[in-house]
Amino acid sequence: MNWDALLAPYKQVVEELKVKLRGTRSQFEYESSHSPIEFVTGRVKPVPSILEKAKNRGIPLENIEKEIFDIAGVRVVCQFVDDIYTIVKILRNRDDFTIIEEKDYITNKKDSGYRSYHMIIEYPVEMVQGRKLVLAEIQIRTLAMNFWATNEHSLNYKYKGSIPSEVKARLQRAAEAAFKLDEEMSKIKHEIQEAQRIFHRK
Ligand code: GTP
Ligand code: MG
Repeated sequence: MNWDALLAPYKQVVEELKVKLRGTRSQFEYESSHSPIEFVTGRVKPVPSILEKAKNRGIPLENIEKEIFDIAGVRVVCQFVDDIYTIVKILRNRDDFTIIEEKDYITNKKDSGYRSYHMIIEYPVEMVQGRKLVLAEIQIRTLAMNFWATNEHSLNYKYKGSIPSEVKARLQRAAEAAFKLDEEMSKIKHEIQEAQRIFHRK
């Protein structure tokens, strides 16, 4: 398997999406001063993770491009829960890619406690050989959701997916505390934004 050749379009997609979403962030900053985007990150799934996922799901190697949706992944991190839905609307209005699937793990949190909004998109990328349609995953979440997911991900890695039940219970409580934080911050959103506008003018 020539991984460099297979992953080249995915790398390109991640780079393009990062530029575009960071552009959206800048545009908000000079047009309205509050940006619904705090920061944007992206990554191409490492080859060992691709192989592991393919193995766990019984996906033959020739099908990985069709069946693994998150080889290209970008993450949009927001200050407030509202901001997530602002981004969702903006993404739905774009015509440089097609949305294949949307999953709202905020309204429907996962049993683990995980919250985020996911979109699977089909993105046309121009390669030397011509246009190629590539699947990519966009995760949209608040800073609090990101803090939780990052820590839970580390624990999953440490325990190879079998987190002890007492740690799991702690994580579920932490997820609720993180969501409570988001709710409380939402209630003083206007006050926070006003403070940040004053700070920006200085
Ligand atoms: P994978 O979870 O990627 O195998 O595919 P899926 O079809 O189950 O999609 P899902 O929307 O459930 O998850 C996609 C991605 O969301 C994952 O690869 C993770 O990045 C993230 N994610 C989903 N569930 C959790 C979770 O419980 N904890 C953390 N930390 N991340 C999660
Ligand atoms: Mg999953």
